[in-house]
Amino acid sequence: MSNWVRAVAVADIPDGGARSFAYLDKRIALFRTPRGVFASDNRCPHQGYALVRGEVKDGELTCAWHNWKFELSTGTCRYGGENIRTYPVEIRDGQVFIDIADPPAEIIRPDLFRSLTAAMEDLDTGRLARDAMRLQRIGTPLTDVIAEGVRYAAPRAEYGWDHSLATMTDCLRMSRFFEESLSALPVIQGLSLAADSQVRRPARPRPDPIDPVARYGSVGDALRAYPVLVEEERADEAEALLRGLIAAGVPGPVLRHTLLTAVTDHFLAYGHSMIFVQKAFDLLDQIGWQEADAVLSPLVPEMVLGTRYDKLPYMRKFLRAWEAAAPDLAALTRAGTGLAPDGAAPSGAGTGPLAAGPSGNSSGLLAYQRSLTDGSPDEALGALVRALAGGAPVTAVIDATGRAASERLARFDIELDLDDTNDWGWLDVTHTLTYLNALRWAWSADRSPQVLRGLFHAAWFVQWTGQFDERNPGPARGRPQPHPTPDAAEVHRAIASRDPDAAVALADGYTGPRAELERSLIRAAAEDHSTAPIMVAHVVKTAQAAVEESRALGDGPGSAAPIAAAARFLASPKRERFVYQSTLEAITTLRGVPKPESDQVRPP
Ligand code: FES
Repeated sequence: MSNWVRAVAVADIPDGGARSFAYLDKRIALFRTPRGVFASDNRCPHQGYALVRGEVKDGELTCAWHNWKFELSTGTCRYGGENIRTYPVEIRDGQVFIDIADPPAEIIRPDLFRSLTAAMEDLDTGRLARDAMRLQRIGTPLTDVIAEGVRYAAPRAEYGWDHSLATMTDCLRMSRFFEESLSALPVIQGLSLAADSQVRRPARPRPDPIDPVARYGSVGDALRAYPVLVEEERADEAEALLRGLIAAGVPGPVLRHTLLTAVTDHFLAYGHSMIFVQKAFDLLDQIGWQEADAVLSPLVPEMVLGTRYDKLPYMRKFLRAWEAAAPDLAALTRAGTGLAPDGAAPSGAGTGPLAAGPSGNSSGLLAYQRSLTDGSPDEALGALVRALAGGAPVTAVIDATGRAASERLARFDIELDLDDTNDWGWLDVTHTLTYLNALRWAWSADRSPQVLRGLFHAAWFVQWTGQFDERNPGPARGRPQPHPTPDAAEVHRAIASRDPDAAVALADGYTGPRAELERSLIRAAAEDHSTAPIMVAHVVKTAQAAVEESRALGDGPGSAAPIAAAARFLASPKRERFVYQSTLEAITTLRGVPKPESDQVRPP
């Protein structure tokens, strides 16, 4: 519907000149040209200066500041990066009338989505932010905005699921921590990271879906075939099958169990495969199951190609202990879920030196937690088996593992990250928390022996990363004393000012509502305290996991430890570029001497 308003008299605009006009929230520039009077928004989309100061020649407006050029009759940008809005003009009795009615949302939304995609393609963060906020302003849910980013990024992800999709998932969740006026910030952060990661990549070729019954005889047989295809690295067949299962309407929980089975057959991709399955299902929960094919099928190449870390020397000691203990995962699952037949404590630990004892009580869990932070692989595995076989609920064991993972982040040697002469750093340790969080999600959704196997991987992971602890911290180092404060903003300030000790001391000493502490952490993660896409992705992922882990631990003492741990990570100075390290690596590569194999990758 039109809404004509009288702006000015034609005579009030200098011939060949311009003047501005304000009406309610509109700021409009009027141009009197030989071709007539034209009206456009007065704010240049480039850096926001007034277009009324620009110059018009042959129907083209040139911004006075940085030369962006716009067709005055349509607003089309001829040089620069974004169109401007123009308004219909009529001259009646020497007066300029402008139709300031906003077009209906359903008319302009498709254009805004097209513009958003173009902004991603141009890596134009400013335009991306503006379009996301314009979409939000006309009532578009942020879930739809992220869904558009997913439709851009998912087909382009070269090797399947990656951090760009995971970050968009977390960022959408994080938007709920912000007030309405700034709730698009994390979403824009996620879209920007996705653009950085996938820009101008061609779509990854995908195999067509197959009919699972025609190929495998039944849906059940097809589901059983999937992990085998992953194990045999038959990526195309596995992806065609998964797409076929989705097309056949196999329920989400069934697909989830199949995927979780495949990703726990090994400790895949340093835990990323499990984390990406968690994020993929979380993303579908948020944007809707209609995107299942686009969101789930890229999981396949990621998990097929993922490094089997359990086959590397890293996990050798742990696997020896695992084989000696021969834990019966089905029995331990029954024990951990209270499903033991006849109420009897099931025997799950075989008959070896790690045979089960009654360690399912809190002291057993404490011993287990200590074995992860300070024990050997044998001790960690033994304590885990004893805790489970002794009747500890799996969720309590996950809690203990999460506390140990938080401790691992609290002990990490920050200097290690800043040393270009090694391959190891913060990201090798933050995954203990994010993997554990993914495992918690998996167990909450699927209490199966397959997922329990993932808990054993988590225990190994937390124990193994102890080699990255700060060494000989001495009396002046170690965990800083808690600094009491009721003000969660102090934690945010400590992160922003790159003071990890202060961040931990303030998070440990925080006395206010937990929600405010969570908000401070999430806000810091959504802002620009990191720049490299890989670091932004891990900051977002770790902060999100820390909040969920903290909530899972309840309100008791130490339950904010995951947040303190993540705050330490966020606040730490970090190596974000790897050019020097890559150069050093290239020198040794050209010498041709392979690296030594060891289960301990950090020299003693
Ligand atoms: S502000 Fe208009 S071109 Fe830069």
